[in-house]
Amino acid sequence: MKKLYIYGVGGLGREIHELLKTINVIHPKWSITGFIDDDKIGYAGEGIPVLSGADFLGELKEPVDVVLGIANTRIKEKLYKELKNNELISFPAVVHPSVIISGSSIISEGAVIFYSCFISVNTYVGTTSLMSAGSQLAHDSKLGDFCSVMPSVNISGNVKIGERVFIGVQSSIRQGICIGKDSVIGMGSVVVKDVPENCTVVGNPAKEIRIKILITRREIVMGKFRCLECGLEFELDTNEKTKNCPECRSRYLEYLVGEPLKRGKSWSAKTFSVK
Ligand SMILES: CC(C)(COP(=O)(O)OP(=O)(O)OC[C@H]1O[C@@H](n2cnc3c(N)ncnc32)[C@H](O)[C@@H]1OP(=O)(O)O)[C@@H](O)C(=O)NCCC(=O)NCCS
Repeated sequence: MKKLYIYGVGGLGREIHELLKTINVIHPKWSITGFIDDDKIGYAGEGIPVLSGADFLGELKEPVDVVLGIANTRIKEKLYKELKNNELISFPAVVHPSVIISGSSIISEGAVIFYSCFISVNTYVGTTSLMSAGSQLAHDSKLGDFCSVMPSVNISGNVKIGERVFIGVQSSIRQGICIGKDSVIGMGSVVVKDVPENCTVVGNPAKEIRIKILITRREIVMGKFRCLECGLEFELDTNEKTKNCPECRSRYLEYLVGEPLKRGKSWSAKTFSVK
């Protein structure tokens, strides 16, 4: 049986461990050899070792499978891209035996699909994307790469979801909707309008509470912002040409939509993807 490591020993990693054991009962496939987690080196339940990332790579001498047990979409993408460079590492798609998947759907490498999901016709589940228990992806819908869909989410037909989108537990997405990359759908949201990139939306009907922006030039910007680097919340309420966080000088800011955004005449801030 091929050796398999689970990256992350938190709640999701341990749930994936259970999922793999269920698959092994039906089709013995993997020897679950260890977890990888820099913060929790030692042993997990059942005497399974928890290695650091460096130790894992240091000990690697034969082909192994790795499953990413991480819901944070950016960390997931970063780890996937780093480990993908190593030709001994593969990312199997892991699907619970109870899942119903149409023969016309595409499940990409590293995808994790938990029990009682339903993946309908002509759908796509992206690289390392997670569909948690009881979620549905209806006909002709696309879930982009590195996404995380929490339990009991209903994604209707013809929905297009960009990369690195996080969808909170028990949300529903109306048919035909597009959700831009790097957006977050809060738990219990009902999404009835397209969601642009880099937005956080919540509620029924879902409304924006946050937009990430990069202030690019010398613009006059007023409103309430939170720094994406250090977390400081601050107000720009004058016509100062301030573009950076007053604490750490970062230009990666999140505009807090609850406050009225006023734009100076030369406003040209744009949404961005955090590296
Ligand atoms: C949307 C979310 C990411 C926002 O987190 P955050 O950026 O830390 O935002 P805050 O908690 O500061 O909330 C900001 C405002 O939005 C409201 N809000 C947050 N999440 C909300 C939600 N899901 N529905 C309705 N309102 C919500 C808060 O009450 C707050 O309102 P206020 O400013 O009037 O007090 C988070 O609340 C969420 O829903 N995460 C998903 C949880 C989940 O599904 N976990 C998986 C479990 S398996």
